[in-house]
Amino acid sequence: MAAKYHQLHDEDRPRQKQQLVIPLLLFIIAILSIVLVVVSISFTAPSNTPHTCGHTRTEALARGCTWDHLVKAWLPADCPRVGEREYLAAANNTGWIFYDDPNTRHPIADIALYAPLDEYEAGLGREFKLWYTTEGEHLTHCAYMLKRLAYSVSNQARIDDLSLSYPHSVHCLEYLLRQARYSPTWDNLTTVGNSWVGRC
Ligand SMILES: *[C@@H]1O[C@H](CO)[C@@H](O)[C@H](O)[C@H]1NC(C)=O
Ligand SMILES: *[C@@H]1O[C@H](CO)[C@@H](O)[C@H](O)[C@H]1NC(C)=O
Repeated sequence: MAAKYHQLHDEDRPRQKQQLVIPLLLFIIAILSIVLVVVSISFTAPSNTPHTCGHTRTEALARGCTWDHLVKAWLPADCPRVGEREYLAAANNTGWIFYDDPNTRHPIADIALYAPLDEYEAGLGREFKLWYTTEGEHLTHCAYMLKRLAYSVSNQARIDDLSLSYPHSVHCLEYLLRQARYSPTWDNLTTVGNSWVGRC
């Protein structure tokens, strides 16, 4: 009798264990999934969240942002500045010239201090002031903007909002091409290349 009782008891125990194993496994899988999601979010969030500079020069300076001559914006310190040095060097060491009127009567002494001003916050209603500059400045800006874009894509680096803009890139390359068509050697045989089988 005792043996029988014992046997029954023994048969019962594995069944109880089995009943517990599946909920326990599900519980562990659920916890692991939550941990995995939290870890992946915390690893991807920093690179996907744009670093910002606020809306005014004062806010930008307070956040440690610096002026970028190429895009003419205050940018977070860790935005790549590829092309800025070359853009500045292309201005004959005299600097690119900007005016605050289309009739070139009022040169702007320091474009970095021109806009965006804090007038917007002061209630004067203007966040952005327009400036005017030369065709050479515009073409040089366009060329080095495309260099910055190519750098960030190649290196999977951060990129500022204007350099990332597809419409702006299209504008720049079409503008460069339009001006390049004035080249007196457009139809000359100046070019050599080779073709290959690529990948992407
Ligand atoms: C650069 O120098 C050349 C020759 O001196 C001049 O014609 C041109 O206007 C200058 N460009 C700029 C952006 O200052
Ligand atoms: C370009 O082609 C034209 C016409 O064939 C020729 O007169 C000119 O010298 C060429 N220019 C150069 C830089 O080769």
